[in-house]
Amino acid sequence: MVKVTVCGAAGGIGQPLSLLLKLNEKVTDLALFDIANASGVAADLSHICTPASVKGYSPSSKDDKETIKTALKGSDLVIIPAGVPRKPGMTRADLFNINASIIRDLIANVGKTCPNAAILIISNPVNATVPIAAEVLKKLGVFNPKKLFGVTTLDSVRAETFLGELINEPPTSLKGKISVIGGHSGDTIVPLININKSLTANVSKISASDYKEFVKRVQFGGDEVVKAKNGAGSATLSMAYAGYRFAEYVLNSLDGSTSAGSLVPDSAYIYLPGVPNGPGLSSKLGGVDFFSVPVILEKGEIKSFINVFEDLNVTSEEQSLVKVALEGLKSSITQGTQFVQGSKL
Ligand code: NAD
Ligand code: LMR
Repeated sequence: MVKVTVCGAAGGIGQPLSLLLKLNEKVTDLALFDIANASGVAADLSHICTPASVKGYSPSSKDDKETIKTALKGSDLVIIPAGVPRKPGMTRADLFNINASIIRDLIANVGKTCPNAAILIISNPVNATVPIAAEVLKKLGVFNPKKLFGVTTLDSVRAETFLGELINEPPTSLKGKISVIGGHSGDTIVPLININKSLTANVSKISASDYKEFVKRVQFGGDEVVKAKNGAGSATLSMAYAGYRFAEYVLNSLDGSTSAGSLVPDSAYIYLPGVPNGPGLSSKLGGVDFFSVPVILEKGEIKSFINVFEDLNVTSEEQSLVKVALEGLKSSITQGTQFVQGSKL
């Protein structure tokens, strides 16, 4: 039995993500929670002829505190794309005022109802919402850092697509041969494209200006979509794909069917001090506690991570990008942590 709950399931990401989860035959129960329209989405998906039983849950009123708990009860995996997306002219940080309390309250329910679930946070600003989640779980005394993941997979998906175009390689062949680390916003996003020897010949031919343009496009790919949607939101379909890719990695790890082999696994934004060898990396990064690194999973949790700085070839140019990323991350992490400190859960 594997139960997955999606919070924000009726939204732009939530719907296609729930569709992809319904297609995964490992999922036996799919709970769709949203403040609106969850039962409609659930009724629709429930007609698909795959094993997962689908149920929709929406609170009956603002005072209804029970429905979310019913939705979450017994979950092995909770995925959260609840909250508002950007409009043109906004940064992800501008979403903090609304999304911070949404994440705080949802995570408090996760902590009280299914503290052993793996938690995937999609809602922006990820650089701050994941620290919020960690702080809530700490306050409740149920924080397992090996099971809290900020979803940064869309940055890897974009890096594979854009690099594939640049070096004329099928993007599917690049999964696991490049990596993206850091955070999930502008220059906190750091692509690493020199970590696999099979790409060296092609990557070394990239001109300085093309490389600069590639890095910028990976870092600001979200803006490209926000602009193109012109007020109708941000990336939803590519995010559903990316969110599912990471969720599938977690689901496969539950029964041991994941094997990254010699390839670098997907990254996630994690709390370094709480995972094996994480405190060392955190202090090397100047005390930054949350950072996206490639994670190796076992039974739905982090078994270890790849210390890219020690185990892989990171160029001096890429190291400089990391320095910039660390500056941006510090203030977001503090903002998220402090937000919870004065909150009643
Ligand atoms: P959306 O507005 O289409 O959907 C959000 C859904 O959340 C809505 O259905 C809304 O009813 C629901 N919701 C709001 N408050 C809720 C609550 N308290 N409980 C449950 N559901 C609630 O937005 P979207 O396009 O799906 O984006 C969702 C979030 O994901 C945004 O914050 C966006 O910035 C973020 N995002 C992150 C990434 C990433 O790479 N991590 C990529 C794309 C978007
Ligand atoms: C993205 O990277 O597309 C998301 O974080 C959404 C956004 O606001 O850009």
